[in-house]
Order: sequence, then structure tokens, then C-alpha cells
Amino acid sequence: MLSTDEQQWLNALIAKITAKMAWVSEKSRHKIPYTTIDGTHDDRSASNPSGTLTDGINWWTNGFWGGMMWLMYHETGNEKYKDVAVNSEAKLDRCFDEFYGLHHDVGFMWLLTSVANFKLTSNPDSRKRAMHAATLLAGRFNPAGGFIRAWNDLDDGDTRGWAIVDCMFNIPLLYWATEETGDPRFKQIAERHADTAMTAFVRMDGSVHHIVEFDPYEGGVVRTYGGQGYEEGSSWTRGQTWAMYGFMMSYKHTGKAEYLDTAKRIAHYFMANIPEDGVIPVDFRQPPEPKRDDDTAAAIAACGLIEIARCVGTYDKHIYLKAALKLLKSLETRSDWTERSDAIIQRGSAAYRGSAHHQPIIYGDYFFMEAAFKLKGNDFYLW
Ligand code: GLY
Repeated sequence: MLSTDEQQWLNALIAKITAKMAWVSEKSRHKIPYTTIDGTHDDRSASNPSGTLTDGINWWTNGFWGGMMWLMYHETGNEKYKDVAVNSEAKLDRCFDEFYGLHHDVGFMWLLTSVANFKLTSNPDSRKRAMHAATLLAGRFNPAGGFIRAWNDLDDGDTRGWAIVDCMFNIPLLYWATEETGDPRFKQIAERHADTAMTAFVRMDGSVHHIVEFDPYEGGVVRTYGGQGYEEGSSWTRGQTWAMYGFMMSYKHTGKAEYLDTAKRIAHYFMANIPEDGVIPVDFRQPPEPKRDDDTAAAIAACGLIEIARCVGTYDKHIYLKAALKLLKSLETRSDWTERSDAIIQRGSAAYRGSAHHQPIIYGDYFFMEAAFKLKGNDFYLW
């Protein structure tokens, strides 16, 4: 499927990932990193940086470090990666005690840790943790609107009717719970949410809203928000990728053709907007200045495009793979392969607004690695 040159490039990329993870996993083995400070991983498990329940151990990205370690364990068989992953999974138990800090992102947190552990080692404690998380996620379902509620109460408003496109990555935890237990309720909720997202989030041109507010009693759409993108009606790139790859995940778990078609529609919109240099902006509809990029969106998009390529015919496959390779090759040139930084990807942006631009973010590294192993063809599917 890859040309000889592409295969050589991929082999070299995987060698660089493996070399970097060999020492980073040792250096950060007691942490759950989110970003870096002067090149060194921070630690979201140490304390709550801003003193809130959500920013510390409940932080939504706290599964990615464990996920990276499981990817490396699967790739190399080296037990040291498993030990780090198991350690980070155990730390997340505190979240169940705190409860009020938990949110819709329990899928991101426990698919990459407990479900991964259970799939690879059959650990019964991991199964229990994952079932706890799935039950919490199912409990957030609002039957009036057919959506899973995002976040908890924000300081500045009533979010009882809010759903966000990112949640397409959480619902695979519900598919897993049904596949594991045979109880159809989890999958029914996941499909209801995906069906709602298909009609309420995806626009005619294949772009997607970040936030949709529903009436939490009657269920109708109240309004949409730009969320982490530039403005209402804009096109936050990471949101496009959560949707593109997210609908592929729902397709893989259900076989429903409309989810594949939706993923392809979003992918075509995304591919049409990839700039010449392959550098993805934070929002496809942001102004040219200031220049704000998000390499995490490029990495997630590459994963989604490779998954689509796996599910379409031989001729179409080429279109998606070509775009994925362009993104990954561009990312590789801007990444840090030295010991100056604990992170690979250096130019992630949390959102269009705020100050968190062009910094390492853990899920950038996770998805870059996942994409490389997917291309190699021996990947361990954690979603
Ligand atoms: N899921 C939140 C984000 O992408 O920043």
C-alpha cells in the first residue's frame, strides 16, 4: 500500500518514536503529563494546579499518557511500558471518589487506561474501573434531546443542555461496555448520541459545530457556539477531527453506513482545507493574523483518514492515505526528537482564544504515535 520511499520514511519515524519513548517513559514514569514546562513534562496527578476538581487528577487528558505506554507495550513487548501504564491507571481511582469533578470525558480517560489494560492483560480490576466509567457516562444521557451532557456547571452559565462534538470519542466506552457485558443499553445510548450529533452538529458543507445547546426538557436545539474555535459558525479544526475520526469509531462498532458517510463528508471538507505546507490552523475560518496552528489536529486527522482508508475501496483509499501522509510528514519536520523536550509535538493549541498556543500537548504525541502504528498495520485499537 505504501511506496518503498514511504515505507522507509515510516520505518525511520517509528524508530525515532521508539527511541524517544524509551527514555521519556523512564523520566516521566511517576507522572501523568499534559504539557511541558521548559521542556520537562508537568504532572496532572501531583496536585490540582488551579485548586479545582477538574484541573488535577480529573483532567480530561489524563488517559493519554497511559495510552501512549500501552501503544509502546504493544509495539515492543517491553514490560516497563506496562508498569508505567498500570501505575497511571491506578492513580485515576481518586476520580471515582471525588465524583463531582468527573465529566463526559470519562471515555478519553478510561478507554486508554482500563479498557486497554483489560484488552491486553484481562485484568479484572481494569474491567471494573471501565464499567464504573461507562455507567457514569451513560448517566449523563439526556433522553429529551438524545445527547450526552458535556461538562458540569460552569461559573458563567447554565450548561445543562450542552453537548460537544468531542464526545464522539467518549461513546466508544459505551460500545465497549455493551460488547463486554451483552447489555444493549450502553450501545443504545451511544447510537442515540451519534445520531443526534449527525443531524445537529454536522453542517451541509461537512464542517461541524463545536457546541450545540439543546433545551434540556424539550430537547430542541436552542443555539450553537464556536467553543474552542474562532467564533460561532467557524470551524475549530480539532473539533472537525473529533467528528471525523469519531464517526469512524461509531461506524466500526455498529457497521451503520451513515456513520461512514458522515466521516467521509467531514474528511472531504477537512482535506479541501489542508494548506499547501500541511500546517493545520486552530480554526479553518480564523483570520490570517495572528497565525495560530494546532499540530494536535493534524495528528488526530491523520488517524481518522487512515481509518477511513481502511474501510473504502482500493481507488478511494489512496485519497485519504495521501492526505494522512502529507499531515504526518509535515508534523515530523516540526517535532522534537532530541532530549531537550519530553514531548514530540511542539505546536499544539488548546483553543483559538487564551494564551495556550504552540505548546506540547499530550494528545498530540499520543495521536502521532497511533497514526504511525496504524500505517505500519500492526496497531492496537484502543477506541
Ligand atoms: N476535548 C477538548 C479539547 O479538544 O480541547
